[in-house]
Amino acid sequence: MRTPVIAGNWKMYKTLAESVDFVRELAPRLAPFTNVERVVCPTFVALAAVGAELKRTDHTDIHVGAQSVHWEAQGAFTSQISPTMLQGIAEYVIIGHSECRAYLGETDEQVNKKVKAALKHGLKPIVAVGESLQQNEAGETATFVGGQVRAALVDVSADEMANVIIAYEPIWAIGTGRSADGATANNIIGGTIRATLAELYGSDVAQSVRIQYGGSVKPDNMAEYMSQPDIDGALVGGASLKVNDFVALVEIAAREKGTQGA
Ligand code: 13P
Repeated sequence: MRTPVIAGNWKMYKTLAESVDFVRELAPRLAPFTNVERVVCPTFVALAAVGAELKRTDHTDIHVGAQSVHWEAQGAFTSQISPTMLQGIAEYVIIGHSECRAYLGETDEQVNKKVKAALKHGLKPIVAVGESLQQNEAGETATFVGGQVRAALVDVSADEMANVIIAYEPIWAIGTGRSADGATANNIIGGTIRATLAELYGSDVAQSVRIQYGGSVKPDNMAEYMSQPDIDGALVGGASLKVNDFVALVEIAAREKGTQGA
């Protein structure tokens, strides 16, 4: 049984003070939904403070994730954050988000290096994949997304897959209000991503890896995704910036597919 996981990707929103205030309000409202794993991914500068606030208020079952990581443990890489620097302040790390691929030139090879470095240093990657509108309209989604999954996981072992989450985020659905319908998203997640994992690692591993949907997830379409058998949660941008929406998303996930002991 895969525990659903809802992660809020705050992107480049919320200052340090705003992040701490937000999580102080959010955490007690997310606390009852223990059958869903709940993750917040603030900007780097707010990670430690958000974690400290969760600890102070005894809400350590809300997990903290970073939005990226470098592949080297240290070095002359001005502006970058290494996996060792995240140890102790982040449990998860988003890798390969389409915004990093598009605006920062992150390549499949770099995504793979980051995934391996994160795992080596005890961080759990949330690996984001997804096709562009052009690829989608050309009927290339399955080939492209399957290829991204394979590239991200080169030399990642079956055992390590226990700590990996994959997020399917069609680029055309991110921040656009235009979301994939539940059945279509489930088809890519089950028929392409899980099938690719089965080819790489066998069906037991493929059935155990959690795969999220992301892209304009809102309280009013959440049930459509959570009622799908292969979708194990959501990676959420805009709606995770509002306390009521974030709580509603987790509440729906708990109702539709919560497991015990998340
Ligand atoms: P939106 O939920 O704002 O579409 O963003 C999705 C996303 O990119 C999460 O990583």
